[in-house]
Amino acid sequence: MSFRIIILGSGRGSNAHAILEAEASGQLGEATTVAVLSDKKEAPILDLAKQFGKSAHYVPCRPKKARLDAEETEAFLKIIQELEADLVVLAGFMKIIDQHFIESLDGKIINLHPSLLPSFPGINSIENALNFPVKITGCTVHWVIPKIDAGKIIDQKAVTIEPDETLGSLSEKVHSAEHLLLPDVIRRLSTGEISFQK
Ligand code: GAR
Repeated sequence: MSFRIIILGSGRGSNAHAILEAEASGQLGEATTVAVLSDKKEAPILDLAKQFGKSAHYVPCRPKKARLDAEETEAFLKIIQELEADLVVLAGFMKIIDQHFIESLDGKIINLHPSLLPSFPGINSIENALNFPVKITGCTVHWVIPKIDAGKIIDQKAVTIEPDETLGSLSEKVHSAEHLLLPDVIRRLSTGEISFQK
């Protein structure tokens, strides 16, 4: 039985790439990516989806607005519901979604964040961890709730911050951890190893 996922992203899509690679090499359990959606017309994540033979949708959104408005929300939901997704994966999706969006998906939506939440929510999380300074940071996959970066944590992966760490080297380490964590969480959700929240 296939487990249908839809990826939402706004940027380069390295995490979408990790998911699609995992799927192509049989490492994504029962999960199949049915589409990639973006609020940015030129986002590399859309080209990437096409390279993997997946359907790619640009959903027009007002630039420089943090939150999706009602019309934009409905445009995303229409595609997601038509494609009968079992899970929506936010992988670098930089718009804030509201309670109606989450409830319409019955809470079946997860987000990837580049820190060990609840530390360093919001933006510039890798830089903030480096400058704090903490000794350990990492990445988190969590259920999405209306409050930003605050939903129940599903899993995390830690990386050590070395004394000579730079923003570049730390970013690379965090992204490498993300590329392992996110596909693995999707795999475990698809096989039932991780349960959906009630
Ligand atoms: C990832 O580091 C992800 O954790 C972050 O955006 C990046 C997307 O990279 N997400 C957030 O900051 C959301 N709060 P990608 O486009 O290469 O996958």
